[in-house]
Amino acid sequence: QLDDAVNAIAKEFEITPEKLDELTAHFIEQMEKGLAPVENKTTDKGLPMIPSFVTGTPNGTEQGILLAADLGGTNFRVCSVTLNGDHTYSMEQMKSKIPDELLEGKEVTSDQLFGYLARRTLTFLKKYHPEYIDGSSNSESLRLGFTFSYPVDQTSLNSGTLIRWTKGFSIEDTVGKDVVQLYQDQLKEVGLEFVNVVAMTNDTVGTFLSHCYTSNNTDSMTTGEISEPIIGCIFGTGTNGCYMEEISKITKLPQDLRDRLTKEGKTHMIINTEWGSFDNELKHLPATKYDIDIDQKFSSNPGFHLFEKRVSGMFLGELLRNILVDLHARGLIFNQYRSKDQLPHRLQTPFELDSEVLSHIEIDDSTGLRETELSLLQSLRLPTSPSERLQIQKLVRAISRRSAYLSAVPLAAIIIKTGVLNKRYHGEVEIGCDGSVVEYYPGYRSMLRHALALSPLGAEGERKVHIKLAKDGSGVGAALCALVA
Ligand code: BG6
Ligand code: GLC
Repeated sequence: QLDDAVNAIAKEFEITPEKLDELTAHFIEQMEKGLAPVENKTTDKGLPMIPSFVTGTPNGTEQGILLAADLGGTNFRVCSVTLNGDHTYSMEQMKSKIPDELLEGKEVTSDQLFGYLARRTLTFLKKYHPEYIDGSSNSESLRLGFTFSYPVDQTSLNSGTLIRWTKGFSIEDTVGKDVVQLYQDQLKEVGLEFVNVVAMTNDTVGTFLSHCYTSNNTDSMTTGEISEPIIGCIFGTGTNGCYMEEISKITKLPQDLRDRLTKEGKTHMIINTEWGSFDNELKHLPATKYDIDIDQKFSSNPGFHLFEKRVSGMFLGELLRNILVDLHARGLIFNQYRSKDQLPHRLQTPFELDSEVLSHIEIDDSTGLRETELSLLQSLRLPTSPSERLQIQKLVRAISRRSAYLSAVPLAAIIIKTGVLNKRYHGEVEIGCDGSVVEYYPGYRSMLRHALALSPLGAEGERKVHIKLAKDGSGVGAALCALVA
């Protein structure tokens, strides 16, 4: 019985090649809608498609020492980046996990969050650049690029207001405020008025820029062809991507701005798609009852970022948790617990099951799935039988595979929309990516590639796509942004 129920769920999680076609076509349509002026739209506004105000990409010759701060999914990082001008850089950095109280507290204010960021910045400077604190430095100010990885209505390179939080934050009074100003004010509060936040960027934009900087994308050694960086993306706590769009196609930018940029010789601008919000209307995305429950009952942003809720690391464990609780309620698993209330507390707690646990289960080939047993005992205090574990592993693989297959959709859509593969004879393209899922989840990148080959790109298109890890890229990317600012 458990076997049948699990097979039925796994089937619901399957993404067929036809589904990939349908989703890719819808994604392209939603990108086009998102680039058009708001007044042309009815209720379906398309993807957010946020202009980044970054109109050029680095070529690896940039030089300088800059600060970068990065509020991403799991961590806050402060770094000082030295760009050597030869595709290489060096970096000092201090990473700290964002404290849970800032994420979950109902009473938390913007000043508390940005105050925390400013204090971490101070600690970093005291340790790595004391000359600025004791006044012995020759230079009076420091330029900082801020990677802020949440949807921001960006109005210039260093200003923009928060549209809404994602990835678990819920500090209400930040929404609608200029996040650069909030950070700058708190830097002043802790005595760092000489640090100037000159640029703000999304993590995808940072990742893209840093990939462009490090990629030596002249003729490819093996094929003698040029491989061009085209997308920066994140598959981590959240998921999102950016790409270079022709300015003439970003018709939502005011005409005078487009004219001015064209006069300055600019042809392209990086667009932050915020693809986490793809198909919030659920016209084409798969929607199992678990997806619906997670969105409606357990997430802090119901109705938003529905693509992200099927793909990113924050939700993979939560999907498994919801399925297990449901199978138990149906009397098919963990029968030693007579009611829901008797289940281990952690199994009853939303978001308690980390996707890292799934990554251990995914590749467990030990006898009787002993690793899985230990992982579940440790993380959820949940004892399991060997046959239950076999079914749990099937579920884990269905969840991760669906995530990786869905991840192929925006990549295929952007490649098709921009026509990059047709631009040059045998042209090849590079995708710079970062985030805990693509970096650590076993087999994720190969599942993603497999799905790309099944997508409208086909096997031939897929072979021209190089997926490269741009680890911790947004630090370097923010520094590059600060440099041009
Ligand atoms: C980090 C980047 O490496 O990856 C951040 O510096 C980014 O900018 C993050 O947000 C995404 O990964 P995760 O897994 O922390 O969400
Ligand atoms: C969320 C944020 C987005 C960010 C992504 C990856 O989707 O809304 O801005 O880029 O997570 O961190």
